[in-house]
Amino acid sequence: MDKILIHGGKQLKGEIKISGSKNSALPILFASLLTDEPVIIKNVPSLADVDTTIGLLNFIGKKAIKKGHTVKVISKQKYKHIAPYDLVRKMRASILIMGPLLARLKKAYVSLPGGCTIGSRPIDIHLYAFKQLGAEISINEGYVKTFAKNGLKGNVIHFKFPSVGATENVLLSAVLAEGKVTIINAAREPEIEDLANVLVKMGANIAGAGTNKIIINGTKKLKGFVHSVIPDRIEAATYMIATAITKGHVTIKNVEPKHLYTISKSLKSCGITIKETQNTIFVKWTKYLKSKNIVTGVYPGFPTDVQAQWMALMCLAKGTSKITETIFENRFMHVSELQRFGANITANGNEVLVRGVKKLSGAPVMVSDLRAGAALILAGLAAEGKTVISRVYHLDRGYDALETKLKTLGANIKRTKI
Ligand code: UD1
Repeated sequence: MDKILIHGGKQLKGEIKISGSKNSALPILFASLLTDEPVIIKNVPSLADVDTTIGLLNFIGKKAIKKGHTVKVISKQKYKHIAPYDLVRKMRASILIMGPLLARLKKAYVSLPGGCTIGSRPIDIHLYAFKQLGAEISINEGYVKTFAKNGLKGNVIHFKFPSVGATENVLLSAVLAEGKVTIINAAREPEIEDLANVLVKMGANIAGAGTNKIIINGTKKLKGFVHSVIPDRIEAATYMIATAITKGHVTIKNVEPKHLYTISKSLKSCGITIKETQNTIFVKWTKYLKSKNIVTGVYPGFPTDVQAQWMALMCLAKGTSKITETIFENRFMHVSELQRFGANITANGNEVLVRGVKKLSGAPVMVSDLRAGAALILAGLAAEGKTVISRVYHLDRGYDALETKLKTLGANIKRTKI
């Protein structure tokens, strides 16, 4: 298994380009199931989760081919209605296949995506929504079996929590339902808007994406599309924090600054200089970092997907910061690994206190999940001496060309087989 080796202490300088958003690319790939016409998706990041999605589409009956950062999907054969365990278990987002299959085939058998290290992550909100649209649901032998014998029908869906995945699954099914579907308390993440823009290009009738009330008027048939995926705001946030933690100065290109408003604001209040243009963000460390409390929240709140990276940064800030996780129940797996660098952190329930230290020292550490892995990379970049990070396959799920991009900025980082 690959490991990543970092000799820390190098200031990051220069410029890098952010890849397309993983969390946008995946639902958009699933949207290809809603039409028999060809689709072309550009700015798709090279990631294990994208490969998993392409594998799943091909299994179901599409022919999806990725060349560089473009994926072309054409129809090859009649769809299967079963998404088996072996293809689904690798990635929770596989549950997004349920909406399109239910809409097109009136039935879908999808293996339960299961838990993961950041919490139990149930799918009850997705299933409630499909029931509201008229589907019958049963769970047996590890599969969620959904049927909509007479097709999906319009209704009001009131989410108890604005789940990103459930909002996407409803969009991916309601566009072909009969009548009007209203989602109350919908997720507002930029990735939802990107998916809705694609569906509208396909001929869907959607109003309110990006707000907490989305109205979809079902259509009978959808057409092909060409679309370029929005930039990955979580990848961008990670490089912004990498710049701050290494006392560097970096221009981050191909970003949507408004999607990063909360991150930029938080970094500014720590003393980091941020300058934005229409699609770049310049980040510069100028003076000793001040600590800052954060509480994760749904968009436009502080993203849970940047909580671990923020914790790494706070390890080297002046004073004590409190980090509160409100989205996932068990998302502090990185605490014990950050402590191996010499960080002073105490966890209590969904809160963590980070007391800033003067320096971190390189250490052997292990990745537990994607964003925890990003936090360890950041700590390794800032730490004195050598860091060896194992189980880096988690990072390959979400960071396109991670080592190459960091090397371009002057980091001493490489992947090894040792
Ligand atoms: C998506 C993102 C993930 C991000 C998360 C929150 C993708 C592929 N992944 O995940 O990177 O961290 O949004 O911004 O886009 N929940 C339930 N029942 C459900 C669904 C969710 O209880 O049916 C809970 C989850 O366990 C979690 C919370 O709601 O505690 C948020 O989940 P959700 O917004 O659905 O996140 P994902 O779509 O899984």
